[in-house]
Parts: sequence; C-alpha cells; structure tokens
Amino acid sequence: MELPDVVRARRACRSFDAGAPVPRGLLRELVDLATRAPSAGASQGWDFLVLAGPGDVARYWAATTDPVRPPDRWLRGLRTAPALVLAWSREEAYRERYALADKASGDHAPADPAARWPVPYWHVDTGMAVALLLLGAEHAGLGACPFAVPTARVAAVREAFGVPPDRVPVMAVALGTPAPHPDGPPPGGPRASRRRPLDDVAHDGRFGTPLR
Ligand SMILES: Cc1cc2nc3c(=O)[nH]c(=O)nc-3n(C[C@H](O)[C@H](O)[C@H](O)COP(=O)(O)O)c2cc1C
Repeated sequence: MELPDVVRARRACRSFDAGAPVPRGLLRELVDLATRAPSAGASQGWDFLVLAGPGDVARYWAATTDPVRPPDRWLRGLRTAPALVLAWSREEAYRERYALADKASGDHAPADPAARWPVPYWHVDTGMAVALLLLGAEHAGLGACPFAVPTARVAAVREAFGVPPDRVPVMAVALGTPAPHPDGPPPGGPRASRRRPLDDVAHDGRFGTPLR
C-alpha cells in the first residue's frame, strides 16, 4: 500500500476481534515506528506503555471505568481491543535538553527555556509519534482508535502500571483486528469521515485565500 492510501484508509476503529491477539513483535515494530517521529530538539519526551494480553488490558479498564455503572456502547466496543498502547509525555525531557550547551547558548536563547516553546512540544511530539503508530497499524491491517485516558483516572492508571509521576498521558490507542461491534451496527449507520474542506484549511499566501 502506498503512503497516501494508508493515510486515507486510516479511520478510528472502535470494535475488535477479542480473540485475535496482536503479536508482541508487531507491537514492538509499531512503537519503533512511533519513535521515528520528529521532536523539538530531538528531545523525544515520550514513553509508550504497551498492554497486551487479557490481564493487563483488563487492569486498564478496571482502573478507568466505574465497576457499578453498566458499560455503554462505546466501552463495550473498545473493551474488545486485545492491545492498548498508552502514550505519555514528559516535559522535563525538554527542559533537560534545552539546558544543554548547544541549546542554552547563543544570541537567540532566551533565559527562560519555556519561551522556546510556543505550545507544549512534549505533547505535540508525542501526538506526532502516535500518528506514526496509527499509520503503521493501518499498514499492518490492524484497526486502531486513539482515545483519552479520563483525567480523574490517571492516578489509578499510574498506580496500576507503575508510571512515574512526571509522565502525562497524552492519549491511549486501542489496537486489534477490526470486527463488527458486539451489539451490531450503530443505530444511525456508520459515521462518515467528515473532513473540513481543503479550501477552509489551506491558505495560499494569506489567510482566507484558498490554495488552489
Ligand atoms: C487526542 C485524541 C483523542 C481522541 N479521543 C477519543 C475518544 O475518547 N473516544 C473515541 O471514540 N475517539 C476518540 N478519538 C478519535 C476521534 O474521534 C477520531 O479520530 C475522529 O473522529 C476522526 O475520525 P477518524 O479517525 O476515523 O478519521 C480521539 C482522537 C484523538 C486524536
């Protein structure tokens, strides 16, 4: 598959064949692809917690969901994923990297390293890494869905998997072989991939001038 086809074919997949594990070698390959992402100052302030195998995956859902409330359709689908990858960022990696001589000296180096980052690059870079992982998954014939670790449950996830306190969960990715949802097709039919028109998002020389 050519790269543009992989990019265009990728869609969020929210139900999986629970009986088809993702081989650890493939998970390793996907994380390796993720680490090919660019990062500001080559800081690479990312970590990937791979949960494969029913025990670890179940522990994730136990840490993040209410044991009393019945799971909704979304959760019933996502819980079928045989593997999860949690992507974490670490701000300190950037502070450490930008304190090194080649970054901290020179005419353009501001005293406060935070002035170097118009947005938190640790989250940006981790997000780019996840994008590569998603494309790798698509290329390997897997379904994948990025999703949020609920803020109120982050402490429980840290506790369950020994994640150091300086790591922030940027997002999780459910991975597996795509399969129909256990409840059947969604009531309103499959969701369309609504992309903003290129004319809205691409500006030619001046904001508001579409790139034609
Ligand atoms: C940071 C991030 C968080 C997301 N969180 C969720 C989520 O919590 N639940 C979910 O079902 N999808 C989640 N998604 C998937 C988006 O809904 C999906 O990518 C978007 O609707 C576009 O659809 P597509 O990926 O099929 O092109 C998330 C995606 C990203 C990048």
